[in-house]
Amino acid sequence: MVKVILKDIPDLHKLEVYKSNGGFETLKKVVTSMSPEQVIDEVKKSNLKGRGGACFPTGLKWSFMPKGNEKPKYLCCNGDESEPGSFKDREIFERNPFQFIEGALIASYAMGCVASYVYIRGEYWKWINIMEKAVAEAYEAGFIGKNIFGSDFSTDMYVHKGAGAYICGEESALMNSLEGKRGYPRVKPPFPAAVGVWGQPTTINNIETLACVPEIIKNGGEWFASIGDPRHPGTLLFGVSGHVNKPGVYELPTGIPLMELINDYAGGVKGGKQIKMVIPGGSSMPPLTREECMNIKMDNESLKEIGSAIGTAGVMVMDEDTDLIKVLIRISHFYFHESCGQCTPCREGTGWMYRVLKRIDEGKGRQSDLDQLISVAENIEGNTICALGDAAAWPVKWTIRKFRDEFQKKIPKEEVTLDVKEKVHALRKSPEYISNNTESDNKMVLEMFGNVREDVEEKRFSGDE
Ligand SMILES: Cc1cc2nc3c(=O)[nH]c(=O)nc-3n(C[C@H](O)[C@H](O)[C@H](O)COP(=O)(O)O)c2cc1C
Ligand code: SF4
Repeated sequence: MVKVILKDIPDLHKLEVYKSNGGFETLKKVVTSMSPEQVIDEVKKSNLKGRGGACFPTGLKWSFMPKGNEKPKYLCCNGDESEPGSFKDREIFERNPFQFIEGALIASYAMGCVASYVYIRGEYWKWINIMEKAVAEAYEAGFIGKNIFGSDFSTDMYVHKGAGAYICGEESALMNSLEGKRGYPRVKPPFPAAVGVWGQPTTINNIETLACVPEIIKNGGEWFASIGDPRHPGTLLFGVSGHVNKPGVYELPTGIPLMELINDYAGGVKGGKQIKMVIPGGSSMPPLTREECMNIKMDNESLKEIGSAIGTAGVMVMDEDTDLIKVLIRISHFYFHESCGQCTPCREGTGWMYRVLKRIDEGKGRQSDLDQLISVAENIEGNTICALGDAAAWPVKWTIRKFRDEFQKKIPKEEVTLDVKEKVHALRKSPEYISNNTESDNKMVLEMFGNVREDVEEKRFSGDE
């Protein structure tokens, strides 16, 4: 099976081993014999799509950077990796850090960046230490710094520790955080290629995206484009977690059937149980039902066809005994906690969804809660500065839509109506209302609120409540 990043070479994380396996030869070829345009063209040919969640074409993104050197340009390498269920970039830091560094240097050359920042979440000390050491070694060996391989190309690289917030993985929040400001996402436009970090042209790429680049340049864009599903080619580092026998990171071509990934690589579902739900790409992606899992292929286009997406390829497997309300409460609490609070729909809506879900779990839910949750989610979706709003809304909306029965079971049957509707109905039945209003007024009220169950009204007026 082809491996682009996590190759089966012992001690590949050591510089000598990486070099003796052809490491930094591609960087040499690039800076001594290729133009920046040629590098970008090769990446475009490969059809590499960003591995940070949004699947944006990498070559195209690089081509947005302005040409010329009037302004300093920067590359941000996104290693924040804080989405629940995502744990693949740290595997690159541990097992093949120099391939990522080489990829970031090739990207810097292609875009004319004077420096790149490797942004890692503050709590991830282990990987910060690894990367600080690796970057220092690469400087020492002359791969980073002035006149790399005797060429005109000079660039710097810094490892930057975040303070530990999921929102700082969002590209514009990451840049604010780098600048020492609060990690608030910025309103776009302007886009980072025009106004990025320090107000200068900037590109942000995920660690896995950049780690693919040396192999793409070495073997050619067409080679990479021929791996896996042509619409979303290459390999992916699938981080499989949850109720499987062998959780872990598996590098496999895109388009691999989900059940093959679960059964042949992750050792199958624990205890031979059935699958209830799988989240295919980190906690924010719409979940899949058991039936959907049976035939789905793991690439972004196939998942989009059934209303989900590949995200970070963090595959969370839940067996038949999983309490989906508890799962959704946990996920909702995470987004509520991590919302930066700038946008009202996200700040208020995430807390609202969390509280309603808790209420349902405590047996105090109302039948109207489920539709209300979907409505709150839909009012967050697309109405916020950054995609954290969508990330919070999708799991709630789609888990309820696909597994409504599970939620319904926890809601007491009696309680049906909203307070406001109850008041209108009481008014409609009252003698004053009937005598004071015309027939058409009565008809209008009936049309507006006619979906309220009659038996509840009967109970109310027979003095049961
Ligand atoms: C709330 C939030 C958190 C994010 N966290 C990360 C992250 O940890 N790592 C990452 O690469 N991208 C993350 N992203 C996506 C980035 O904004 C950006 O799209 C990505 O880094 C671009 O790299 P790519 O084109 O190589 O995928 C996040 C987005 C949002 C909205
Ligand atoms: S969507 Fe949420 S996290 Fe993103 S900017 Fe708005 S409030 Fe902040």
